[in-house]
Amino acid sequence: MHTLVPTLVATLPTVRLCLIFIIVFLIVRLSIKRSHLLPLPPGPFGVPVLGFLPFLGQNYFHITLTDLSKRFGPIYQIFLGNKRIVVINDTNIIREAFRLQVFSGRPDTELTKILQGYGIINSDGALWKEQRAFLHTVLRKLGAKSFLQGRNCLEHKIRVQDFLSDLKACDSRPCRIRPLLACAVSNVVGSLLMSMTFKSSEDKTFLHLLGLMEEGFRLFSLAMPVNFFPFLRFVPGVNYAYQKIIQNRTETSSYFKKIVDEHRQTLDRDQIRDFVDAYLVQQEKYKKAGQHSYFSEEQLIQVMNDIFSAGLENVTSTIEWAVLFLMLNPKVQKQIQSEVDEVVGSKRMPQLDDMSSMPYTEATFWEVLRRSNVIALGNTHSTLEDSELCGHRIPAGTHILPNLYAINMDPKLWIDPEKFEPQRFLRNGKVFKPDHFIPFSVGRRMCLGDVLTKMEVFLFLSSLLQEFDLCVPDIEDPPKAQGIVAASMAPKPYQVCAVPRNRNN
Ligand code: HEM
Repeated sequence: MHTLVPTLVATLPTVRLCLIFIIVFLIVRLSIKRSHLLPLPPGPFGVPVLGFLPFLGQNYFHITLTDLSKRFGPIYQIFLGNKRIVVINDTNIIREAFRLQVFSGRPDTELTKILQGYGIINSDGALWKEQRAFLHTVLRKLGAKSFLQGRNCLEHKIRVQDFLSDLKACDSRPCRIRPLLACAVSNVVGSLLMSMTFKSSEDKTFLHLLGLMEEGFRLFSLAMPVNFFPFLRFVPGVNYAYQKIIQNRTETSSYFKKIVDEHRQTLDRDQIRDFVDAYLVQQEKYKKAGQHSYFSEEQLIQVMNDIFSAGLENVTSTIEWAVLFLMLNPKVQKQIQSEVDEVVGSKRMPQLDDMSSMPYTEATFWEVLRRSNVIALGNTHSTLEDSELCGHRIPAGTHILPNLYAINMDPKLWIDPEKFEPQRFLRNGKVFKPDHFIPFSVGRRMCLGDVLTKMEVFLFLSSLLQEFDLCVPDIEDPPKAQGIVAASMAPKPYQVCAVPRNRNN
């Protein structure tokens, strides 16, 4: 006992020191965010300065990124220059991330700087939140967000008749369908947005606007490297693309400005014609009430640029893909035609009301979106602050890239994914869309044009097949289902013969 006391007294400072150390350790451990202790996502090594860029491949980035997911798993990171890109190849992880505010940013890059923070697609923060909510409300009122509300007023804006007449004029000869489609589709988005329709695919104003938009998409892919290597802005080639994007945007914006001015002069507050009218009225309301808002002319014009380009390019490419797949799969074509004949007949045109009775046609729409991979890589998000995902640390400002191609073509999710097979979207005769299929993305930034797209594609396809058989032309190089990558993936240019149907067969 006597010998124990001095020993205890002697060890007391050591015990005290240990206790202090443990307390300090616990305080530090608790004050560091949990996410800071997590590992970063795995990923391949790159080379100094360029990162993974030299290994991305020329064009088909989505394929390289899908191959990487086989090595590194559903979530991994690569570097392009000094920018960290986290690629997500799994729907559940995309859902988990995109429902959170912290993952709802858009990257601040050389190309998005051109837009000065305006618009919806590339903006974020309070401006994006307010403006997205407003666009959503207006699209709903105009009948473009729900099959229940206002669809009659939308139905007559989707004018398929002119497109069918243009096609009839081809007289069963091989023709390129894209210019005819682009005119018809831009009339839908043009009339919703600004009550603007183009008379024909020969209309000069339309052709010029379309040219600027299409060139913009092409140049965007060319100038993309400046987002990761800003010095490239001064390298000829890339610099040309960069300057031309600015020039084209100035031109489309001055076209849209003229339309806004005309709307202002003819505005009737009790008779809202389109999105521009709704915007001007709301802007006035905020101004009168002295209430702060992000409504401005610059913002309105950029939203018009956003919607016109998204509504035109993606939908045109989707219908162009649909025509190609149907031409290459006559059995699918016949099946849609028997559905049209049974539900609609030949005396009237298909209507949106018919869709619920035409599951095979709807299933074909989903299969076209899946197999074409119109949007192979979804729009890049950015993290607004340090965060975590699936046990990984995701630093603030990380680019988050959803690889939709990896999901659409995953053999674990789809039997024989290369095959075009609408039947996979049917169960017991009803349309069945699996939860893992997210062509319009998910969460806070999900596409606002999903319902409009479905309505348009349904009316175009069913009306087209009511009138025509789509046949492979008797030419040297018959069409194949191959895509060219730009902002969205369009099929390689092809020709089709639209032959008036002989219903006696
Ligand atoms: C085949 C047709 C279309 C496809 C596959 C498609 C797909 C997508 C995808 C993947 C996104 C990115 C969402 C995200 O950032 O997570 C998006 C965003 C968007 N889409 Fe679409 N889209 C289509 C048609 C349209 C149409 C017709 C409109 C016109 C109303 C439209 C308006 C928008 C807008 C405004 C956004 C930005 C949403 C935001 O950033 O908050 N889209 N779309």
